[in-house]
Amino acid sequence: MKTSSLITTAKRLEGIGEYYFSQKLREIDELNKQGKNVINLGIGSPDLPPDPEVIEVLKEESAKPNVHGYQSYKGAPALRKALADWYRQWYGVELDPDAEILPLIGSKEGIMHICMTYLDEGDGALVPNPGYPTYRSAVKLAGGASIDYSLTAGSDWFPDFDELERLVAAGVPMRTCEVEPPGRIKLMWVNYPQMPTGKLPTRELFERLVDFGRRHKILICHDNPYSFILNDTPMSLLATPGAKEVAVELNSLSKSQNMAGWRVGALLGAKERIDEVLRFKSNMDSGMFLPVQLAAAKALSLSREWYEGVNAVYKERRELAYELLVKLKCEFSKEQAGLFVWARIPSSYADGFALSDRVLHEAGVFITPGGIFGSAGENYVRVSLCTPVEKFRESINRIKSAGI
Ligand SMILES: Cc1ncc(COP(=O)(O)O)c(C=O)c1O
Repeated sequence: MKTSSLITTAKRLEGIGEYYFSQKLREIDELNKQGKNVINLGIGSPDLPPDPEVIEVLKEESAKPNVHGYQSYKGAPALRKALADWYRQWYGVELDPDAEILPLIGSKEGIMHICMTYLDEGDGALVPNPGYPTYRSAVKLAGGASIDYSLTAGSDWFPDFDELERLVAAGVPMRTCEVEPPGRIKLMWVNYPQMPTGKLPTRELFERLVDFGRRHKILICHDNPYSFILNDTPMSLLATPGAKEVAVELNSLSKSQNMAGWRVGALLGAKERIDEVLRFKSNMDSGMFLPVQLAAAKALSLSREWYEGVNAVYKERRELAYELLVKLKCEFSKEQAGLFVWARIPSSYADGFALSDRVLHEAGVFITPGGIFGSAGENYVRVSLCTPVEKFRESINRIKSAGI
């Protein structure tokens, strides 16, 4: 008897595949075993280290005898205060460190916590297409129905508010919902600087989102991990008047402080929202290692010069990413923020997957096909800036030699 038939997975996993990058990295490993030595320009994991003083705090604190126990479910006071100071200094937002800030073990995890806290079976959540794939899967895992709203070059990668109104009026379509009657749209995922398109927010966009959320009683969840990367003016949705009534924000130290593997993020918002999410989250994890929290607090106090130093590295790489994309006859805007360059593929390829596969198999360079971020990304590719300039130069040479 096949052992696989003895065990069945939960229905909530139906239609949820393994995360694209987890699959793709296996394929790349296989190619490397065959001696391909693939250059990975796909994933957005900063290759630069955190500031040395951050590492020093981790070392010193973890050598102490009394820091190894479970920590508060609400995070260490020092980290909450550092987050409040960071929000005041950079985003001009006042937050009560005791009530309006919840440290998270990564913001990806926070997306799941929010979906589990607010979505009932069949409730709808608006998700950007193209957008970070986790919004869609977290909504589904929580039992909700994800409803795409489109971001297009034509709308300058901003939501089309007429489309949003139509989607809200239509409610949750029956085909995406297994319970009857279908629930209503309760959440909207938003992310600016936008991944993968690199689009920066405007004050007006944030005001319209807050107004939209208030009129329809929809919680606007703004995911804000990229605001310090290739961008001099970080913005928070929470700086918008009235935002705390209808919005929460996720932030992260993964990209801005080069600490992706440390798993430190935060949820910011009104006390009620923080308490609601904590009801779910405190049943899921038991807090973060204290030395990691204290080192994260140190990272949040870094100066403008520190961010400028990191951005100077990304700027140099970005010039080479442009050169590579020009070689591939792709078109792109130079006004993008975040860790990537998003580019339209030439019409000679069926889609971004075809271009990505060709570059992988003929030149041994991996670039991300835009279609993994949703159907609206199919004619695009995304190049990550998390690779040293030498690798970019080598990638360009390989692409030239392969005659692509
Ligand atoms: C848009 C977006 N949100 C959230 C995350 C997750 O970041 P974290 O490392 O904080 O979980 C990513 C990571 O790639 C991202 O691109």
